Amino acid sequence: MTRRLNVSFVGSGGMAGHYLSVYRDLAWVRVLSCIDVNPESAGRAAEILAADAPLATSDYNHALADAVDVVVINTPNHLHKPQAIAAIEAGKHVLLQKPVAAKLEDAEAIARAAGRSPRTVGLYMSYFDQPLMHDLQDIVRQGRLGEVVHCYARLMHRGGMMWSREALEGKRTWRGSTEQTGGGCLIQLAVHYIHIFEWITGARVVRATGFTRRVHCPGLEGEDLATALLQMDSGAMITLDTAWCADGEELAVHGTCGRIVYRGNRRLSMASSAGPFDGRVVRYSGGLTEAFGGPVGVEQTMEVVPPGFGDAANPLNQHRVFLEAAREGRPAPVSIDSGVHDMRVVMAVYESARTGRAVEVR
Ligand SMILES: NC(=O)c1ccc[n+]([C@@H]2O[C@H](COP(=O)([O-])OP(=O)(O)OC[C@H]3O[C@@H](n4cnc5c(N)ncnc54)[C@H](O)[C@@H]3O)[C@@H](O)[C@H]2O)c1
Repeated sequence: MTRRLNVSFVGSGGMAGHYLSVYRDLAWVRVLSCIDVNPESAGRAAEILAADAPLATSDYNHALADAVDVVVINTPNHLHKPQAIAAIEAGKHVLLQKPVAAKLEDAEAIARAAGRSPRTVGLYMSYFDQPLMHDLQDIVRQGRLGEVVHCYARLMHRGGMMWSREALEGKRTWRGSTEQTGGGCLIQLAVHYIHIFEWITGARVVRATGFTRRVHCPGLEGEDLATALLQMDSGAMITLDTAWCADGEELAVHGTCGRIVYRGNRRLSMASSAGPFDGRVVRYSGGLTEAFGGPVGVEQTMEVVPPGFGDAANPLNQHRVFLEAAREGRPAPVSIDSGVHDMRVVMAVYESARTGRAVEVR
């Protein structure tokens, strides 16, 4: 019989609301407590999980109760360190929202505690829910794009303008504080694609430059616009554009034999002179056409729509995959150490933006 996992869910705000249903829908998972400083938020989460009859409370100590196996932390970044370390030291499996923490030294402290733990401790990286990301890794590792020379990501939304308006009206949130967030749009958004591009290519970011500005969000302390230019140890370059005063999402990987471009979480185009590819969601039948410099792969377009964050039936759902690892005593799919590296890259970009110089990433 499958062992049941008892969960405590800490922080029941915007993001948690997207994936609580995974905990409701997995029959071998039971949520014992929903913890939030805001009793209404804890109560709303408990209602979604009504079949488990969880306790709705604002007392974090319930996460450390003997009966709890897994603590899922969905709180603002500056709370990750005290909450994660307390849960790790209490012997719990811990799944922590990205970024690891607001400060690099806090993230490193969490990683040290995780390194001492015999339990499953990891980071929730939502993009790994998407079969497309796993296809991209296969496409690159099978050489369908040749040698990767450039990766591009744009991750932008206008949430910052809303938080700024609210802050100016006296309703300040943690996202407006650099102390609590660790920065602005860059730390919140860029960690996703730094992580994905390293994971897809197997190369590491070794050098960073960047620019950050606050243009349209006077109520926030952090930047609302940031561009990073990163160099990898393979020689490839990454350009990352992030903002929360404009809209749009795009991901592209360019190699010596082809390219993939994915726009608006829907439209994917692929061209490869290195043969067809038949993956989970990407189907490319190959073919060559003449172009400047010699034959290139024929471009084909397709629609690829990501699964919902709360889809427990998705075998790649990162909550489900983490819970399965915890149940079977395996390491977490995304380690805290890898998230600490993502933060080192972000901090190098911030330093570059401050000093105007390129910064080596340790
Ligand atoms: N793609 C993603 O995976 C993604 C997207 C957005 C946010 N996030 C991350 O998720 C985390 C939460 O972000 P959010 O957007 O849900 O924020 P949010 O402000 O909507 O929710 C945070 C919740 O934590 C609660 N909280 C605050 N202090 C607490 C405490 N001491 N104990 C318990 N609860 C407390 C708040 O009341 C609120 O309900 C952040 O680390 C953020 O970086 C990840």
